[in-house]
Amino acid sequence: MKYYFAPMEGITGYIYRNVHRRHFPEIDRYYMPFISAHASHSMKHKEKEDIRPANNAGLFAVPQVLTKNAEDFAWTVRELCDLGYREVNLNLGCPSPTVTTKGRGAAFLGRPEELREFFSRSFELIGKDTPEMKISVKTRLGTEDPNEIHDLIRLYNEFPICEVIVHARTLREMYEGEAHTGVFASILSESVHPLVYNGNIYRSEEAARLEEQFDGASGMMIGRGLLRNPALVREIRGGERLQMHELASFHRQLFEAYRDVLPGPKPVLARMKELWWYMSMLFEDREYVLKKVRRAKTLTDMEIVSERIFMEQPFADEGGEV
Ligand SMILES: Cc1cc2nc3c(=O)[nH]c(=O)nc-3n(C[C@H](O)[C@H](O)[C@H](O)COP(=O)(O)O)c2cc1C
Repeated sequence: MKYYFAPMEGITGYIYRNVHRRHFPEIDRYYMPFISAHASHSMKHKEKEDIRPANNAGLFAVPQVLTKNAEDFAWTVRELCDLGYREVNLNLGCPSPTVTTKGRGAAFLGRPEELREFFSRSFELIGKDTPEMKISVKTRLGTEDPNEIHDLIRLYNEFPICEVIVHARTLREMYEGEAHTGVFASILSESVHPLVYNGNIYRSEEAARLEEQFDGASGMMIGRGLLRNPALVREIRGGERLQMHELASFHRQLFEAYRDVLPGPKPVLARMKELWWYMSMLFEDREYVLKKVRRAKTLTDMEIVSERIFMEQPFADEGGEV
């Protein structure tokens, strides 16, 4: 079973990916946070930095594009092809209102006829322009009802998509509640494309259970579970559990890399605090850890507080997993 790191806008940019890779090399692929395909056929500086091959050396990284326009998509795919990428992932899962009000991301799933036209035109353009590029899709189960996925799978079956990654919730469900694992299991026999499961994998026991339930799936994608426990995939594969000194070293290098690259202390503090929101779940006294981290006003505060947590606070179950 392949394991992919989910794209997480604002968190798993190239700095995070590189530091993670150095410490925990078990991930098969990193999917990059989305870049928007602009009608102006241009990219923002931040997007260019994230996809720059030199910033992704030694990583199997797959860029992701958010769009509902075939011409803009094909243009972006060409740019990515010129940079040396051979797979592009289409974002059909983002539930954020800033994206869905423009009919993109998961909102596109609610207009299947338009989506079919988009795929027809996109594959026509990409087939002519950059036939070496593979296109994968990251989808939700639908907009309102999880069973919308059956029609969507029939639609995806019409096109030469290389892999379909399914976040097992609807648009309406955002990231809340149980993922519909049974619905995912039921589409394994309906798809002509390899299917990858995504949603709420936090522990290796859970992954083992899902691997059994999803006979025939080609992989699993994990997001928040890896932000919480960066060694999760190693643990799933039977490797050593996360050690406190590894988490401390990972954190130290990430902190240093953000300080080197981000413009000033404010964005560095914001990034580290967001990461602590997830990592704090590993600790016995999560509330205490969060309280200490939230109070850090300067980078020095953050350094002192973090080092103290690693020295003094135990993991909830003396291992990586919670
Ligand atoms: C802060 C945040 C940012 C995200 N950014 C993206 C993104 O850029 N592209 C995407 O396809 N999904 C994005 N997602 C969704 C994740 O890739 C993933 O599908 C979701 O977290 C569910 O998986 P998990 O339960 O393993 O975390 C984001 C999720 C979060 C919480």
